[in-house]
Amino acid sequence: MRNFTNVHDIGPLDAAVREALEVKNNRFAYKHLGQDKTLLMIFFNSSLRTRLSTQKAAMNLGMNVMVLDINQGAWKLETERGVIMDGDKPEHLLEAIPVMGCYCDVIGVRSFAQFQSKEDDYQEKILNQFIRYSGRPVFSMEAATRHPLQSFADLITIEEHKTVERPKVVMTWAPHPKALPQAVPNSFAEWMNATDYDFVITHPHGYELDPKFVGNARVEYDQDKALQGADFVYAKNWSAYADPNYGKVISTDRSWTVTAEKMALTNNAFFMHCLPVRRNMIVSDDVIESPRSLVIPEAANREISAEVVLKRILESLDK
Ligand code: CP
Repeated sequence: MRNFTNVHDIGPLDAAVREALEVKNNRFAYKHLGQDKTLLMIFFNSSLRTRLSTQKAAMNLGMNVMVLDINQGAWKLETERGVIMDGDKPEHLLEAIPVMGCYCDVIGVRSFAQFQSKEDDYQEKILNQFIRYSGRPVFSMEAATRHPLQSFADLITIEEHKTVERPKVVMTWAPHPKALPQAVPNSFAEWMNATDYDFVITHPHGYELDPKFVGNARVEYDQDKALQGADFVYAKNWSAYADPNYGKVISTDRSWTVTAEKMALTNNAFFMHCLPVRRNMIVSDDVIESPRSLVIPEAANREISAEVVLKRILESLDK
């Protein structure tokens, strides 16, 4: 595997989960793979989990790690070609990317949707420029439209906790005061659609996701109905995808907050969220603190999903 940007890059999911559980049992077994290899992690946006878990995964594999926060200490980057650069951005991405590639063997990139142009966001312009111009394998640490390291960790977590072969997994929209990208729900849907789980998406009218990501999932606009019989409840906010509201908050309806009353409709479901989460907007205190909450195991599995991805990229370097 040279690049990792979506579910298709990882191949069969049963093999990927088996490999993840093996790595989890012996996370230093592949330390030789990263010897004298350098990972460069580039953040255009903030992070707690991705930053720490990916760095830890790379260290488990014996890699050296460098972290660059583009908006803190690096030159501001112009991303559009053809712009007369007489503003506040002294460097162009088209020079910066190959320069970054000179100093490392693998590059991880975090670059969120900017909500200025749906077309630009959904073309993954920044991530794809890294793939095209860095000369290095590139993996997504959350891009404009997907967060595959998170979704892989979510899948591992579900596989570890499921008690039936084909669990009912419900992804529910929940309210949030600020506009958030669709990357996490898009990606979760993409990965769930690649399993044989019973996968349901529920959200208010106007929050329909890109049909490419919804795939064969069932969409139910009545949250209570969707939650009935759920084995896993995956809560997430996202902003509107459909025009003319792309990137906008069109509802903060608190009746969609995941509460104990909502969870009582389920099959004693586990609660999941990728974090960070706004308590008592997305989920009530008692639900996130309950023994059925998987938010910490999910975060812990971010180290494992990153280690499998980096391991596979390192294995491909010598081929
Ligand atoms: N879930 C997740 O990606 O967390 P961070 O934004 O803190 O990296």
